[in-house]
Amino acid sequence: MLTVPTPAHVIRSACPSDAERLASIEAQVSVNPWSERQFVRACSELERDTQSVLLAHVNGHIDGFIVFSQVLDEASIHNIAIQPNCQGRGLGKVLLKAALTQIECNCATRCLLEVRESNVIARRLYARFGFEVDGVRKGYYPTHSGREDALLMSRELKGIADERA
Ligand SMILES: CC(C)(COP(=O)(O)OP(=O)(O)OC[C@H]1O[C@@H](n2cnc3c(N)ncnc32)[C@H](O)[C@@H]1OP(=O)(O)O)[C@@H](O)C(=O)NCCC(=O)NCCS
Repeated sequence: MLTVPTPAHVIRSACPSDAERLASIEAQVSVNPWSERQFVRACSELERDTQSVLLAHVNGHIDGFIVFSQVLDEASIHNIAIQPNCQGRGLGKVLLKAALTQIECNCATRCLLEVRESNVIARRLYARFGFEVDGVRKGYYPTHSGREDALLMSRELKGIADERA
């Protein structure tokens, strides 16, 4: 059987002109998607050194992104999404590792995130990178039929670049 190789994605920082494509990916995968305006703002804040958006592209075609921020030595992952037809091929791991490596280079010692309790795939991704659940925010996320809990996860940062993704 012929196997199709995963294309070699290039990771780069996003800029405001990427916002439309990022919002389009987000709209396909999120119950409560960020708007294009939110992405424009997130990308613009790159200059301020507080918030970063990394994206993965092949020949300019964007297939995924991750948004994160840092205050002093503590970082937070705010959003990560992969285009549906590219999911399950390791791109989430590549983007998360790139973000954690950048965060560690910026001298953060801890990284936090929140994830929907029902989001089993994202929870597995985070667990694979050593994130552990250390709290619950009851009814934090809206759903189609009501609310659901957010799991708070965190991990210490040390030697990310040497970890196997
Ligand atoms: C969550 C998401 C970012 C993961 O990215 P991805 O590229 O699909 O995931 P990867 O292929 O890198 O796999 C990462 C891990 O997730 C798990 N995983 C991926 N696809 C899976 C599937 N279909 N079923 C079960 N687990 C799966 C695996 O544990 C995998 O690690 P492993 O292969 O080493 O065991 C992506 O699925 C996505 O965009 N989901 C919608 C948006 C979202 O939920 N974002 C998270 C908000 S907190």
